[in-house]
Amino acid sequence: MSRLLVDGGTPLEGEIRISGAKNSALPILAACLLTDEPMHLVNVPHLLDVTTTVELLRRMGVEVTVHDTMDLEIGAGSIRSFFAPYELVKTMRASILVLGPLVARHGEAHVSLPGGCAIGVRPVDLHLEGLRRMGAEVWVENGYIRARAGRLRGAHLFLDVVSVTATENLLMAAVLAEGESVIDNAACEPEVVDLARCLTRMGARIRGAGTDHIVVEGVPRLHGARHRILPDRIETGTYLAAALLTRGHVRLKHTRLDLLEAVVEKLREAGAEIAYGPDWIELRSVSRPRAVDVTTAPYPGFPTDMQAQFTVLNAVAEGVGTVRETIFENRFMHVHELQRMGADIRLSGRTAIVRGVPALQSAPVTATDLRASASLVLAGLGAEGTTVVDCIHHIDRGYECIEEKLTQLGARIRRVGLNYDPGVFGRAEDTDSTPSAMARG
Ligand code: EPZ
Repeated sequence: MSRLLVDGGTPLEGEIRISGAKNSALPILAACLLTDEPMHLVNVPHLLDVTTTVELLRRMGVEVTVHDTMDLEIGAGSIRSFFAPYELVKTMRASILVLGPLVARHGEAHVSLPGGCAIGVRPVDLHLEGLRRMGAEVWVENGYIRARAGRLRGAHLFLDVVSVTATENLLMAAVLAEGESVIDNAACEPEVVDLARCLTRMGARIRGAGTDHIVVEGVPRLHGARHRILPDRIETGTYLAAALLTRGHVRLKHTRLDLLEAVVEKLREAGAEIAYGPDWIELRSVSRPRAVDVTTAPYPGFPTDMQAQFTVLNAVAEGVGTVRETIFENRFMHVHELQRMGADIRLSGRTAIVRGVPALQSAPVTATDLRASASLVLAGLGAEGTTVVDCIHHIDRGYECIEEKLTQLGARIRRVGLNYDPGVFGRAEDTDSTPSAMARG
């Protein structure tokens, strides 16, 4: 475990490259189980969750070659086990995405129940019910999802709740099923579209990906393919928010504005000047952000994965902004840490009422989940002094080389080990050990 030391007060300036999307890479890695032929994936982000998924595939006997460019060659023809162990699944609930492909391709799967996670209960009933509707026998015993099936049958599936991974799991099951499947109330996220594009390259017959009505004509088998992972819209939004927060001027390459229009609209409402091209977005800001009201919603609405970052923006903005979380029941844990940094936030059910203060105060804070940890780094960038962010293994799950990218933009940020003692902030005589002195090296 390590910590990040973040010195506040420096406007972010410069340009960085946006990585491939974590939430696109994970389902597409699982989709490689649907064929025995080689798959070639490029623009795969170098993240803890990707490493975990590669480890999971390797445990099953799948051959995975990681090139130094982070391109992946995957050969599932050598698979010998259909087992996803608790020790891996508990660290990354998206491991459940191997369930649909294993049942569809091999008629068998033993996948640990993901269990809850920091942001909510995160049930998987829609995944299991959909597979049953397609003819699989699915039961749970000793904490594992067990599934058995002959060739799956196409079915009309209606998702009671919009769920990205349930849509993806059932889409991957349907592509090899006998006959036609329909997924209604499907998730429309760009990552679902990217998965559908990859499956289509593999020979699947899919219509309507990106809408809430997806139609799949099952085929007997899929062949290998090459696929470039979509840019990460949440990483993009996180760095744009950081630039606005620090009144900087950044240019993000290898990304696309159409992936995060709801976020860009809110950044403009908060005072950001935004320009863009086919594969870049530029943000400039010279004044304190204005408070905005956001309500999270399934795509194309405002993404829940950007909620924590906008809570931080509102915490230092001019005015009062409300942040309403409609997707997860417990996604305000960053609020308690921000309050320790002087943020004026009142929680009322699933709404945070945020009254902006001129600046946050640095403090030792603890990350609780992936996007909350990113928001604490943003808070540190906007605070006076040096903020110490603990438990940053969360952040390594979803942000590739965050300190290198922020350093490239001029931020003063460094990773230290657990033995680092934040000391008592602000004691003048501790010049050799105060965080600022340490951070400057
Ligand atoms: C995906 O999670 C993303 N993860 C999440 O990103 C993202 O926050 C979320 O979609 C919402 O956009 C990946 O794509 C790997 P859910 P997903 O648990 O689809 C209910 C990040 O930070 N539900 O399905 O797994 C559930 O209670 C992560 O990158 C059921 O009721 O989200 C919730 O209210 C965090 N039954 C809603 O659906 C089910 O069977 C969505 O939750 C499944 C879900």
